[in-house]
Amino acid sequence: MSLFVIGDTHLSFGVQKPMDIFAGWENHTELLKKAWLERVQPEDTVVLAGDISWGMTLDEALPDFQWLNDLPGKEKIILKGNHDYWWVTMKKMQAFFDAHQLQTLRILHNNCYAYENIGICGTRGWVNMEPGEETPDDAKISAREAQRLDVSVTAAEQQGLRPAVFLHYPPLYGASCNYPMLDVLWKHQITDCWYGHVHGKSQHKCAVNGVRSGVNYHLISGDYVQFIPQKIV
Ligand SMILES: [Fe+2]
Ligand SMILES: [Fe+2]
Repeated sequence: MSLFVIGDTHLSFGVQKPMDIFAGWENHTELLKKAWLERVQPEDTVVLAGDISWGMTLDEALPDFQWLNDLPGKEKIILKGNHDYWWVTMKKMQAFFDAHQLQTLRILHNNCYAYENIGICGTRGWVNMEPGEETPDDAKISAREAQRLDVSVTAAEQQGLRPAVFLHYPPLYGASCNYPMLDVLWKHQITDCWYGHVHGKSQHKCAVNGVRSGVNYHLISGDYVQFIPQKIV
């Protein structure tokens, strides 16, 4: 039994949004499927760290959900990315998944999932801004995302699990950071944080990989990991 993670599947089986036009994204779904089939077993868990589907609605995203559901893995734990416009309320998404027999998809949102003694926690996150430079809207969204992460991590702690954090946005990028998100990581003494969202060779260079102030950061966006699900344990 293993735990894997990958971000930014950017699927578009139900809409016209070809990714092949972007450098590094040629045949990315074939690459992902091949790597997934080679590595992930039916009893495994895979965390999908946002930017899952280009569909604008649940119906448009359905072929992407079905594609993911049919891949090996007992649970695929999904969190929201900035491109997941289909994302609605937990209740509506769960009802849609139930109606379409998407039994392996799990929604990570103000909750956590247990994988052995690990608590899978996370939320989308938000862009990085210097204190005082953010707009009131950005400050509000950052605070809300930090609160969601706090709720998620607290739920894991209450169950006696060791929290592992999965975000879509990087809490650190180059010299910038998202202080509300970092505060939550530090408050709960999180040791590992996986994130996606960062695409393209020049952007990858600014990504933080490795330990900073006690947290080990891992970029796992699809193109950065060459569409290979990354084994955590
Ligand atoms: Fe993104
Ligand atoms: Fe993305």
